[in-house]
Amino acid sequence: MSMKSYITTPIYYVNGSPHIGHAFTSIMADILKRNRMALGHELKLSTGVDEHGQKNQEAAADLGMPIDDFLAMRCKEFQGVFDKLDVAYDYFVRTSREGHKQAVAGMEQSIFDRDLIIKKNYTGTYCKGCEEFKKDSDLTEEGQCPLHPTMKVEQTDETNYFLKMEPFRERLLQHIADNPDFVQPEAFRNELKQMLSEPLDDLCISRPKTRVTLGVELPFDTDFVTYVWFDALANYLTNIDWPDESYAPWWAECEHLIGKDILKPHGVYWPIMLMAAGLPLPKKLSVHSHWVGAGGMKMSKSIGNVVDPMEVIAELGVDALRWYLARHMRADSDSQISVDFIKQTYNTELGNKIGNLLSRAAKFSKARFDGKLPAPGALTEADEAIRKSVIAATEGLGGWISLAEIPARMQSIITVADEMNNYFAEQAPWELIKNDDTRERCQTVIYVTLDCLRVVMEALTQVIPGSAGRALTMLNAPDAVHPWKPELDRLQGDSDLGDIETLFPRVQ
Ligand code: ME8
Ligand code: MG
Repeated sequence: MSMKSYITTPIYYVNGSPHIGHAFTSIMADILKRNRMALGHELKLSTGVDEHGQKNQEAAADLGMPIDDFLAMRCKEFQGVFDKLDVAYDYFVRTSREGHKQAVAGMEQSIFDRDLIIKKNYTGTYCKGCEEFKKDSDLTEEGQCPLHPTMKVEQTDETNYFLKMEPFRERLLQHIADNPDFVQPEAFRNELKQMLSEPLDDLCISRPKTRVTLGVELPFDTDFVTYVWFDALANYLTNIDWPDESYAPWWAECEHLIGKDILKPHGVYWPIMLMAAGLPLPKKLSVHSHWVGAGGMKMSKSIGNVVDPMEVIAELGVDALRWYLARHMRADSDSQISVDFIKQTYNTELGNKIGNLLSRAAKFSKARFDGKLPAPGALTEADEAIRKSVIAATEGLGGWISLAEIPARMQSIITVADEMNNYFAEQAPWELIKNDDTRERCQTVIYVTLDCLRVVMEALTQVIPGSAGRALTMLNAPDAVHPWKPELDRLQGDSDLGDIETLFPRVQ
């Protein structure tokens, strides 16, 4: 039976260049995609950009660029970064796409026709960073948005269209209670329940063209464009061709990956928009915390602690970055990142523990066994033990992993890499090769080591596909089994090894 899965990332604002946070969510989505595909699922992955709204409009104006040129430039930049990051997206979303805009207008019209949208005047505070109206209780003591302290909030007095939210609050709470997997991890489910614990204000879903022109025109009033969040959230449906019926099987298995900063739009606005339109809710919202600079400081250009994904790739390669992000995101709090941390992790884990063992064992094999991988003899207890550990450490990746489980899966791979290094050191094949009567034992140790490394590399194709793929070529490994699970003894004894290159060259 083939299962369908649909994984989405947020679509990112194009007012600035892609940064490490954008790289993170899209790489995690890619890891989950590779995991599901290894299990034999059919998969669609969407990532891309959010091109509308006041923030983007002003960013283009600041650069003095025509809006279309600005959007085209930024889209190219984001797409280029995701390509370099090995993010295997099926849809690169642009909300300026004609089909998307039409479907958004269709959705709005259908909600309007159900009398759930009203027109009224509103005076209040607006944060451009969030693209949201704020209540006084949402602001800091200084009257600023806590998420955008450097961007002054604005006072607005406007007539707009509003979606009635309160009629859906109880139903949404019930849905959350009935479906514990709807929001993960639990801390964010509780945060969402908190947001839903009091009556909900109507949601403003329009902006007057006098203030914002970059957006989807309202189908029932051409003096307005659609609120950027309404438009952006709908991408999750329009990518898979909603309202065409073919969207349904994908939508039924949809998982949204998001940062905790956008829990409210995804946990409150989006489900209620869908209920208002008479559509089913997504299956799951997987929420992660944020990356911050070393010492827990927010990354900022003035502090100089910003980690630029493109600079990291240029210096250390894409897999140094993918590995660090997969390995070191904490489930329960924000996590720290710096170029130094990435370098250290790259050198000590990928370099010393994995790459070195591969080149030592493979080069030894080629040098001593005529360019070949030797065939193993009888296995000892030590061989059986390490083989068992390798299976145990990798079989998690032969099953369905959640976003929050990724770091623990990486941890078990590093732990077993330590064990493999100990095994190799204790067995000391360079001693065994010296005597004829231990030569067969030497063959076995080399075979076991490289076959274990093959299993680890197969598992790692879900995380660092480029490097893992190169390693498997060096080992002359056959195609992995599909659906994937860790299986021993798939390397052919007495077969040629490929060219052995250094997988993770050491940096300074
Ligand atoms: O909110 N650590 O776009 P955005 C981890 N356009 N992830 C981070 C991060 C950090 N420090 N900073 C950002 C928007 N992210 C809307 C979304 S979706 C229909 C519309 C990631 O450019 C994380 O995924 O502000 C976060 O939720 C997202 O970028 C916000 O991106
Ligand atoms: Mg943001």
